[in-house]
Amino acid sequence: MPPISSLECSRCRHYLSNDQPRTVCPACAGSLYVRYDLTKIDPASRPGSGGRQNMWRYAMVLPEVEPVTLGEGWTPMLRSRRHPNLYLKEEATNPTGSFKARGMSMAVSMARHYGLKKLAAPSAGNAASALAAYAAAAGIQAHIFMPCDVPMANYLEGVAYGANVTLVDGLISDCARMVAERKDDEGWFDVSTLKEPFRVEGKKTMGYELVEQLGWEYPDAVFYPTGGGVGLIGMWKAFQEVEALGWVRPGKRPKMIAVQASGCAPVARAYKAGEAVSKFFEDAETFAAGLRVPKPYGDYLILDIVRESDGTVIDLDDNTILQSLLDWARNEGLLLSPEGAAATAAYDHLLATGFLSPSDRVVIFNTGAGLKYIDMIADAMGLRRPGKKKLPKRSPVAGIITPV
Ligand SMILES: Cc1ncc(COP(=O)(O)O)c(C=O)c1O
Ligand SMILES: [Zn+2]
Repeated sequence: MPPISSLECSRCRHYLSNDQPRTVCPACAGSLYVRYDLTKIDPASRPGSGGRQNMWRYAMVLPEVEPVTLGEGWTPMLRSRRHPNLYLKEEATNPTGSFKARGMSMAVSMARHYGLKKLAAPSAGNAASALAAYAAAAGIQAHIFMPCDVPMANYLEGVAYGANVTLVDGLISDCARMVAERKDDEGWFDVSTLKEPFRVEGKKTMGYELVEQLGWEYPDAVFYPTGGGVGLIGMWKAFQEVEALGWVRPGKRPKMIAVQASGCAPVARAYKAGEAVSKFFEDAETFAAGLRVPKPYGDYLILDIVRESDGTVIDLDDNTILQSLLDWARNEGLLLSPEGAAATAAYDHLLATGFLSPSDRVVIFNTGAGLKYIDMIADAMGLRRPGKKKLPKRSPVAGIITPV
């Protein structure tokens, strides 16, 4: 594993050392990127067939730390049965059923390394589940704040993993405010999306993996359901690194397609308006719970990356997302999360508009397991369990064997 050479501010390019835990840039509050001296990494260290079957197969490009691992990463890349050039990166197989495991494995590993004892995070749901699980594995306290209408699975996981769970009558932005107000008094270290540098490092492994699983070649486009945008930012960083390391065949980087729900589409709006940052999206509402982020902290990074990659940002309404979810369940045998289904719906849309063609090689992220959302999906489908059948009164056993 390489030692970190510095932390670099993504906004003002200020450099900081990593000798103490850091949140954001002290000069401008920008998110920090972890930098290494990549010239010190042997290009021949590129993982081959024998590497570890989890995200730590990329340990040579991750911070030098003892991992807190539950087996995250190295998820399947499934080829669609209907579109020969379409691949689904199935993140449902991660611990806690979502890609958030990658970021939290890395962030909690670093927290343990720094000796931090209490971590806090606002979350749309899955980040809280992952933080709760990794904190439990590391013997660290987790304080998680989620909207009160998060999927039941996220609430249950938080409680089951022994985290301190607060359900908030509001959105993730209200949860973030509560963490910010209380963290100093409570001695919590804030691991909020993009306010802590290591979750991006964990999520960047999705970029390494997809390139490796395609034979160290870029696809033409990557679809990423975007809330806070950590995965998209992490993958773009991974692409810069694989190029610097000479691990990828020369070629154009993929178009990055950020996908949002129309009920909460701050980045899509900003993209269409040609803005560099987003505005707070009022009255955010969608059953794709992870996309309910009304003002992503790293909006400027997401917008920059999408534009630099010649990608786009699109948003789909909940009904279109649900139809795509059912389409993939019935025709591909995969129960996607609503966030993943937003991405599959976006693919259909961009094929229809001609932005992409069926010959383009595309990777879509199903960022979480559909099974984590049974309450939300059932509601969206209007599905209720049929009324309980009355059980027949138990006949006395004797009555069956011998007439009474
Ligand atoms: C399943 C799922 N997909 C996508 C997202 C959005 O992730 P990001 O914040 O990295 O954009 C989330 C966030 O909670 C999520 O849980
Ligand atoms: Zn800065």
